[in-house]
Amino acid sequence: MRDRLCILGHYYQRDEIIGHADFVGDSLELARRAAASGNAEKIVFCGVHFMAESARVLAGASQAVYMPAPGAGCPMADMAPLREVLRAWDDLSTFGGKWVPVAYVNSSAKIKAFCGERGGATCTSSNAAKVFSWALKQDRKILFLPDEHLGANTAFDLGLPDDAVAVYNPSLPAGGIDAGRAARASVLAWKGYCHVHMFSAQDIGRARAEHPGAKIIVHPETPKEALRLADAHGSTSQIVRYVEAAPAGSTIVVGTEINLVKRLAALHGGRVAVHPLRASACRNMAMTTEAGLLALLENWPEENRIEVDPKLKANAALALRRMLEIP
Ligand code: 13P
Ligand code: SF4
Repeated sequence: MRDRLCILGHYYQRDEIIGHADFVGDSLELARRAAASGNAEKIVFCGVHFMAESARVLAGASQAVYMPAPGAGCPMADMAPLREVLRAWDDLSTFGGKWVPVAYVNSSAKIKAFCGERGGATCTSSNAAKVFSWALKQDRKILFLPDEHLGANTAFDLGLPDDAVAVYNPSLPAGGIDAGRAARASVLAWKGYCHVHMFSAQDIGRARAEHPGAKIIVHPETPKEALRLADAHGSTSQIVRYVEAAPAGSTIVVGTEINLVKRLAALHGGRVAVHPLRASACRNMAMTTEAGLLALLENWPEENRIEVDPKLKANAALALRRMLEIP
C-alpha cells in the first residue's frame, strides 16, 4: 500500500509495534501527523481510543482511521463524563467570573466538542503551558479537564501560586468548592488522574538513595508533591530529548510508562544509564499486539474502524485546531 497506508505509534506501545510504525511520537506529534497525512487512504492508530478519535477528527473525509485494538481506552479520559462536566459548567455560571474550558487530549470527543463550542481548546502535555497562557491572556479562568495533576503542574510552571489552582471534585456537591474559592482560582482542575503516573515522594526518595548523583525526570501527569522533588519534568517527547541530550556517563531515572523507559535504556545503554522510577505499565496501551495489527492489515474489519459522531466533529475539530494553531 506504500504511502496509501500510514501507521502511527505512540511511544508507550510495545517495541514490536514501534518497529512497524511509519511515525512514532507523543500525543501532540501524532495529532499533527494525522492532520498532515493527506495521501494516506488508511490511518492505523496504535495507541488508545482518544488518540484515534482525534486522528479521525483531524483527518480528511476520504481517509479511514482504524485501531488494531479498538477496546483500548484511557481510564483518565473516562473520569470526565459529559453530564458531570455540564453540571460543573452550570456551577461555574452561578459562581461568576469568565471561564473557558481547556481539555487535555486525553478526553472523549464529546468533551473536546464541549470545549470547542465554548471558545476553548485542547492541549497535550507538550503544549499545556502555551494553551494555558493563551486562555489567561484573554482574561479567562480555566476549567481544566480531566487531569488534576497536569492542571496544577502547568499552573506552577507558569508561576501561578498554589492557591490559584482549585480542584473540582465531581463526586461532591458543587464540586466541593464555593463562590469564594472559585473567585480566588485562575485554574479549576478536574479531579482526574492517570494511575500509570501516580509516582510519589517515596518513589523519588528511593531513586535518590539507589542512584546517587542521577537526574530524575517525570511526566507532568505526576502529582506535584513528587514532581517538585524531581530534577525535571516533561511530556513524553521532552523526556526522550532529555535522555538524548544527557552527558555521556550520566544516570537518568525516568518516571513514565515502562515500555518507553525500557526502550530508552536499550537505545542509550552504551552512553547513559536509564532506570525506571518505578515500573508502571499502561494496560490499555499494551492491548495492541503484533498479531492484532496483522489481523487488521489482512482483513480491515469494520469493528476496528473509528468514527466520531458527525454532530460532535465540527466542535471537536475547533478545539483541536485552536490548539494546533497556537504558536
Ligand atoms: P503524551 O504523549 O502527551 O506525553 O501523553 C502521555 C499519555 O499519557 C498518553 O496517554
Ligand atoms: Fe491513559 Fe495514563 Fe494510559 Fe495515557 S498512560 S493512556 S493517560 S491510562
